[in-house]
Amino acid sequence: MTETVMKNEATEEIARWGNTVKQAPYYPAYHIAPPVGLLNDPNGFIHWNGTYHLFYQWMPFHTGHGAKFWAHLTSGNLVDWEFHGPALAPDRWYDRSGCYSGSAVEKDGELILFYTGNVKNGEGERESYQCKVRSPDGVTFEKLGVSIELPKGFTPHFRDPKVWKTGHSWYMVIGAQTEDKEGCVVLYDSPDLESWQYKGILASGLGYMWECPDFFRLEGDVLLFSPQGLEEQGMDYRNMYQSGYIIGDFEDGFRTEDFRELDHGFEFYAPQTMEDDAGRRIIIGWMGMPDGGEEYFPTHDYHWIHQMTLPRELSQKGDTIVQKPLVEMEELRMRKVVEESQEKWEGKIPASSEILLQDIDGDVDIELFRYISLRCSKGKAILTRPAMDGSGEEWRATVLDSPLTEIRLFVDHSSIEIFINGGETVFSSRIFPEKEETSGIINGDLSLTVWELRRQTGGKTV
Ligand code: FRU
Repeated sequence: MTETVMKNEATEEIARWGNTVKQAPYYPAYHIAPPVGLLNDPNGFIHWNGTYHLFYQWMPFHTGHGAKFWAHLTSGNLVDWEFHGPALAPDRWYDRSGCYSGSAVEKDGELILFYTGNVKNGEGERESYQCKVRSPDGVTFEKLGVSIELPKGFTPHFRDPKVWKTGHSWYMVIGAQTEDKEGCVVLYDSPDLESWQYKGILASGLGYMWECPDFFRLEGDVLLFSPQGLEEQGMDYRNMYQSGYIIGDFEDGFRTEDFRELDHGFEFYAPQTMEDDAGRRIIIGWMGMPDGGEEYFPTHDYHWIHQMTLPRELSQKGDTIVQKPLVEMEELRMRKVVEESQEKWEGKIPASSEILLQDIDGDVDIELFRYISLRCSKGKAILTRPAMDGSGEEWRATVLDSPLTEIRLFVDHSSIEIFINGGETVFSSRIFPEKEETSGIINGDLSLTVWELRRQTGGKTV
């Protein structure tokens, strides 16, 4: 099938189901979610020619995984996103089972994308190709074919190229699995984005596969990746797969003992970062988890599933990466609905809201929508919700880096993002409370402000 036919079919799905999706009770007001079908990883996040571009892994035809498209969105303010439909469709011999994750850079004024062409061949085996695309205008996308074939020593679990430039050199990290079934990140470099040289393994050794690597500099060099196959250890690694970072040194290496999870919630995976024109390192993640209970989400009946996290600004404090909601998110505040300082507060929380707890002295207990609760006590934070598969309760927890002073929560119909102590500790999770439930209970010595947040203005049209 030609690319145009495939893209048209994807667009027709939006026409067919768009209204059903829009009216879905759990559809977010201000987070990025698909107009129909399934969304997963953020891809190609870039600030280019004064506009923010974001792509994502998109399955338009059903709410499961499969031969992914890249959907394309743009924004002037990182709050309101305009949806432009499919940028890439899986129409070539080298990507026919999916245009898998990748990244964007600018070269000579053009937008250049790198992604993984995923192929399941006639023998049921996987092949993977790192592919290149150019776009002179951010509207049309021309596939330029395969840039990198699978090198020796790795299985075809070799994907998700992230490209950046340092000095006169281009670099690419790729998530991979060695033939000994060890997860790793490999490094390539290039003088011109045309010819690529394999430079070796940058880091390895946690689990059996590392997906979606990223590299950037804060105070130290940061390697971000999503390892699969880690054993649960007390409060750590309780999700099906993890996403985290190692702060190390590009020349001297990255030690897996220094790996830390980025987010402690139930749903957070495959994040990607970019540096914007203001020099901010901004991250956005998939608020989902592969093989982690997606089948139980109640949104399938409405023909959509999954959403992104909010974009967050990164900084480094000691050996912690701090994630702070972008200052732009304050534009979402439509009206203040609560301003109180009582030890025990009970009231209504809008389905789309920001809740700010400041001047905290001592322990805090929050219960929202009779569904999810956060308890912060004795230097620990514990998040509890009904188990997705209906078997009792499930929890995630972590030790706080510093004494509790502030909790900021973003609620959006079926999601919650919790930023503790200015983003030192973060929990991202989907929530599926009863439809009209508004109950909020907050206990603690603190001052409380709640805003109702507006819808983002783009997002659902082509
Ligand atoms: C991570 C991931 C990537 C892959 C993409 C496919 O969620 O498995 O490794 O490129 O999703 O949609």
